[in-house]
Amino acid sequence: MSELGDGTRVVHAVEAVPGEPFGAQPVFASVYHLGGQDTYGRTGNPTWRALESVLGSLDGGECVVFPSGMAAISAVLRTVLSTGDTLMLPSDGYFVARRFASEMDINVVQVPTAGPYPSFEDVRLVLLESPSNPGLDVCDIATLADAAHAAGALVAVDNTTATPLGQRPLELGADIVVSSDTKAVAGHSDVQFGHVTAASPDLAASFRDARALSGAIPGPFETWLTLRGLGTLDLRLERQAKNAAALYELLSGRVAGLRWPGAAEDPAHLLAAQQMRRFNGVLTFELESAEAVETFLAKSRLVSAATSFGGLHSTADRRAQWGDPVPEGLVRFSAGCEDTRDLVTDVSQALGLV
Ligand SMILES: Cc1ncc(COP(=O)(O)O)c(C=O)c1O
Repeated sequence: MSELGDGTRVVHAVEAVPGEPFGAQPVFASVYHLGGQDTYGRTGNPTWRALESVLGSLDGGECVVFPSGMAAISAVLRTVLSTGDTLMLPSDGYFVARRFASEMDINVVQVPTAGPYPSFEDVRLVLLESPSNPGLDVCDIATLADAAHAAGALVAVDNTTATPLGQRPLELGADIVVSSDTKAVAGHSDVQFGHVTAASPDLAASFRDARALSGAIPGPFETWLTLRGLGTLDLRLERQAKNAAALYELLSGRVAGLRWPGAAEDPAHLLAAQQMRRFNGVLTFELESAEAVETFLAKSRLVSAATSFGGLHSTADRRAQWGDPVPEGLVRFSAGCEDTRDLVTDVSQALGLV
């Protein structure tokens, strides 16, 4: 269905069959009568395949689903890297990925997303994250993938913030996409989920094998919830990006460190506009202190403190409380799907801008 728009593709993720329900239903079996495609729940499930088919088609490769974003990332690191290999990963990206890598028997080179990047010589895997989390810096995926490939390295991109509708790293030359679908893909703050999509069927097969061997498999119900959430991703992103744009306009010149790659004034905008297909609802800014963030949250009626993003509800996360190397008052703000006017009014009064 690649000639159709993204909104249509996510709505029609599962082919219509007369007499069958709309969309794939969760199949809960752990054991199957032998002789068909499925044999045992740890190695295969029809609900996984329904979701893998649409995510793989959007990402442009072969998808393997995992029970969380970290399960997806750790499966890639464990599968691709051997003892003594070198991994390059962002110093300003998702901190749990750095923590996992630091506990492996490998060499880890940390580089800020915005660069400069050192030589890729002797690097086995480069893990990029663009836009990065929480700083929302952007790196040039195509240029970095070319340079990394020339040195013999594989390139994976954490596409969580962008989503499969917002960015197609495989089309930009990456080998692997990883994603925490806990965020915008599932989108309703009620499920942990993740996926890996690989350009090469051999790599995808090795991730599928790692899933079956580790036993870290997604539940059919969670898979179905994610598939169900994906159906409205296009609509949700549209409202979230509209809300983020309105908040950017409200906050511009009134808070420090305001970042949203969708804004023409953002330092990452030109590159982001070149390699991303659309923007989303995640922005960051700094208030003067942790207490100022507390006050903002206490005064807001619509914005909740939460350490996730991409969901229906607007949320704010003071990242320093989790150990991110950022100023105490830095807020990662996830614009939800509320009415734009209500959200702008609420944030404006909570920050004392009116
Ligand atoms: C960019 C990024 N990657 C990966 C993860 C891990 O995802 P999960 O919490 O689903 O394991 C997160 C979670 O916050 C994230 O923000």
